[in-house]
Amino acid sequence: MAAGIDDIAIYIPRLYVDAADFARGRGLDPAKLQKGLGVSQMAIVDTNQDPACLAANACLRIMQRNKLSPEDIGRLYVSTESSFDESKAMNSYVIGMLEQVYGQGAFEHCGGVETKFACVSGSYALYDNTNWIRAGEAEGKHALVVVSDIAKYDLGSSGEMTQGAGSVAMLLNDNPRLLAFDPKVTSTSIKDEYDFYRPFGKETPIVHGQYSNLLYLIQVRKALEAYKKKAISTGIIKLKDDETILDHIDFLNMHLPYANMGKKALAYLVRHEWRTLPRWKNIIEKIGMSEPIPKDPRGTIESVLGDQEFMEKDHEFTKMFTKTEEYQEVYESKLASSLIASTMIGNLYTASLYLGFRSSLEFEYQKGTSLAGTRVGFGSYGSGSSAMVFSGVIQEEFEEIVKDMNLESEIGPRKKLTIEEYEALHENKLGVTDSMLQPKKEFVLTEINSSVGSGERRYIFNE
Ligand code: COA
Repeated sequence: MAAGIDDIAIYIPRLYVDAADFARGRGLDPAKLQKGLGVSQMAIVDTNQDPACLAANACLRIMQRNKLSPEDIGRLYVSTESSFDESKAMNSYVIGMLEQVYGQGAFEHCGGVETKFACVSGSYALYDNTNWIRAGEAEGKHALVVVSDIAKYDLGSSGEMTQGAGSVAMLLNDNPRLLAFDPKVTSTSIKDEYDFYRPFGKETPIVHGQYSNLLYLIQVRKALEAYKKKAISTGIIKLKDDETILDHIDFLNMHLPYANMGKKALAYLVRHEWRTLPRWKNIIEKIGMSEPIPKDPRGTIESVLGDQEFMEKDHEFTKMFTKTEEYQEVYESKLASSLIASTMIGNLYTASLYLGFRSSLEFEYQKGTSLAGTRVGFGSYGSGSSAMVFSGVIQEEFEEIVKDMNLESEIGPRKKLTIEEYEALHENKLGVTDSMLQPKKEFVLTEINSSVGSGERRYIFNE
């Protein structure tokens, strides 16, 4: 049975910090953010927004656009790493909000949980719900998988320039108009790691940035190796001599903590895949240097990062490799469109990969690329750590959905924050009711009960 993504909706907070203003505020060169990381604007939540209301707003958009009633939804999962409750699941908050519009008890039949595994949990939720549909358990109903996060790092930390916020709701069913997932190829890798984590009670994570960058690459490569074996053994991809699995994936979406991480990941995976092929000889000749090898090729991530000579040479090699016309062709045709939204919005943790997918659909369609029947690959990574690689095929009916996509109008009119306003929001100096914007037709947070033994949250739908 086919199963996959029928429609996709986004909700992005309309407050933002401009990268150039931010850089000036921190004494940094704006080019480090704009060129070095690929960050132009970072979406920031208002005082009356939390990840649950971002998720509810994305859900409402997808339900209204498809004229769905609660009866049509069999499962509602929310994946997040910005959870504010250790026990009560975020999907219950979302259902509470949706029932303000659809009537109390309207979602009573609808099961689901909140899933957590840093930025990869949405991919696990998609996989589980796809299999719920494939198993014939859905009885004609849809599943809603919502990925929703606020990427917030300590003031002055190196992660602070890679913040953002937003939510992506994906409607899954057995007759998807957008993308049908390839069966029996989804592959994972997992390892107990401390590259990025947020112990109980902390609002911001503890991050080992360069360590997590390298771990991301290694884990995704391992999952890609497993994917390759499955794709060949199931017969969905047949490799000829001098071909790599990436030659058969038309568009790649990578987890995007910042846009240029997608470029880094693509370069790393392409190098890995091409290294053993005849075409590599030509590339090495063009670059004019052999590929650097760490002093201890079987060493730990720390030993590789500590091998300064290797790190510098590898950096130089990567820069030259990414300038070759062979790499540029792969980058422009398979990845570039997926990075546009990330540059405008920033990091969405679990939602970054799917905002990237949404971005590639809109901007490839605008270029006039023929999308039906093309294969889309996904490289999902969550710190802590686990990677998942999977793929799907764009369906003939995709145009029904993609023709109306317009990132700018879906975000809506944005308000640029001064650094002082941003810092006041970041440090929680304002109350829930001191919001900078008064949105219409949206769910907002109205109260967090601060009395001892409470902590209950109240939301309303702003008419
Ligand atoms: N002009 C242009 N580019 C510049 C620059 C300038 N003035 N200064 C630096 N850069 C480039 C660097 O060369 C680098 O590019 P490269 O990776 O292609 O070499 C890029 O900007 C980032 O600079 P770097 O020194 O690596 O940044 P950093 O160490 O201060 O912070 C992160 C980068 C990603 C480690 C940090 O933002 C972070 O910790 N983020 C959160 C964790 C995260 O996102 N992990 C990813 C895996 S999930």
